[in-house]
Amino acid sequence: MDVKTALEFAEASFIAETGKSPTDLQKEIFAQALEGKTYERIAEDCNCTDSYVKEVGSELWRILSSRLGRRVTKKSFKNVLMASSLPLPTSPQQQMPASATMARCQQDWGEAPDVFVFYGRREELTELERWIVADRCRLVALLGMGGIGKTALSVKLAQQIQQDFDRIVWRSLDSCPPLNAFLAEIINSIDRQQPAQLLETPADAISRAIECFNTHRCLLIIDGIDAIMETGKLAGKYREEYQDYGKFFQKVAQGNHQSCVLFTSSEKPQEISLLPTRNRQVRAYKIGGLDGDAARQILLDRDLVVEKKEWNDFIDRYEGNPLALWIISATVANLFAGKTSDFLKTGTVFLGQVEGVLDEMFDRLTDVEIKVMCRLAAINKPIAFSRLRDEISADISSSVLMNVLESLSWRSSIETEVGKDLFRLQPVIRKYVVNRFGQK
Ligand SMILES: Nc1ncnc2c1ncn2[C@@H]1O[C@H](COP(=O)(O)OP(=O)(O)OP(=O)(O)O)[C@@H](O)[C@H]1O
Ligand SMILES: [Mg+2]
Repeated sequence: MDVKTALEFAEASFIAETGKSPTDLQKEIFAQALEGKTYERIAEDCNCTDSYVKEVGSELWRILSSRLGRRVTKKSFKNVLMASSLPLPTSPQQQMPASATMARCQQDWGEAPDVFVFYGRREELTELERWIVADRCRLVALLGMGGIGKTALSVKLAQQIQQDFDRIVWRSLDSCPPLNAFLAEIINSIDRQQPAQLLETPADAISRAIECFNTHRCLLIIDGIDAIMETGKLAGKYREEYQDYGKFFQKVAQGNHQSCVLFTSSEKPQEISLLPTRNRQVRAYKIGGLDGDAARQILLDRDLVVEKKEWNDFIDRYEGNPLALWIISATVANLFAGKTSDFLKTGTVFLGQVEGVLDEMFDRLTDVEIKVMCRLAAINKPIAFSRLRDEISADISSSVLMNVLESLSWRSSIETEVGKDLFRLQPVIRKYVVNRFGQK
């Protein structure tokens, strides 16, 4: 294989594995790595930092490794490809059976992240597919604490069930658009023939969106609706200027269309908390940590040296939260030469950059929620409501405590042990509370 074909092969492998074309930087890394250039040199040419180019590069080698079924590194990349006599791989679309290729799913992924590395979550994917495809749910909430993998799972799920839909639109609410503007954009993406006229009122926008959802079977994914939710009040309320989103979700839930809206959030909106048991077409799925095998893959990816008896200790400390596992395993690789036992010997639940995620969580809480969190941190074991009531200061009544515990669980800030009605904090959250507020 010559250099030009090797490059085409690498790009086609990337598309076949990810369903997307490589970005300009990714193409540049392929090309310059074939010329034997260092990351530092590539970074200079592309006006990026060395560490960013390394990070993007290591994703590329991982994708190629998975495609070729053998380990590819920057060093071996050229030799592996040049020695290869493999035919050019086909893209996922080309690999689909004819009936699926004929299916007319129009896709608009917006700013959806590339999810190259994704371990486990088979059960979650199967269950969510059943809800949306077989049970025809109209509104699905994907909930869970920061970094647990909601965004990644939403992308994987949409890729997995795309053939059931005429349209897929994936949007993040990071920029907090008003509902009118947001829906006008969605309508234009769904119905390119008849772009939305100026939608004067939120009610107009909602009814036009429902019309579109009725004409086409659409999967609309809205990522991160916590961005438009109120902070400093008990959970589940939208910020003043975003109340219309609640009305939109209610209309979607009520029906008169053939589509599904799935949103992700670390906080459960009020209407979802009220609806699921009454309305089977509206459901909430709370995602927990990765299972042991999937979590182990993350540590293996970082080349950590983990003794058999240490796996669970390490993973349990972070309750299988993938973001925490990626962050902390990088620290173990950097500071302990990858030796997990040396890290575990420190006996600490190290937070590192996980603190940023928890800052966001705590910035949302009310004073009384923080008080209850501090109490749970001091108690440091699962506790029933009645015991907690006795332990907590007298100025918090039983009904206030109930509201607060419900709110904290809607925010994924506390864990409830199913069937035991016991409340507890995850180890990382407890550590954060003690660091930030002391043991009040
Ligand atoms: N199944 C998985 N396997 C490996 N890595 C994963 C998995 N799920 C998520 N990750 C990684 O963990 C990190 C956090 O995931 P993600 O952004 O999806 O979390 P999130 O719940 O959406 O967080 P937030 O609430 O902050 O939006 C990302 O780097 C993501 O790539
Ligand atoms: Mg997210």
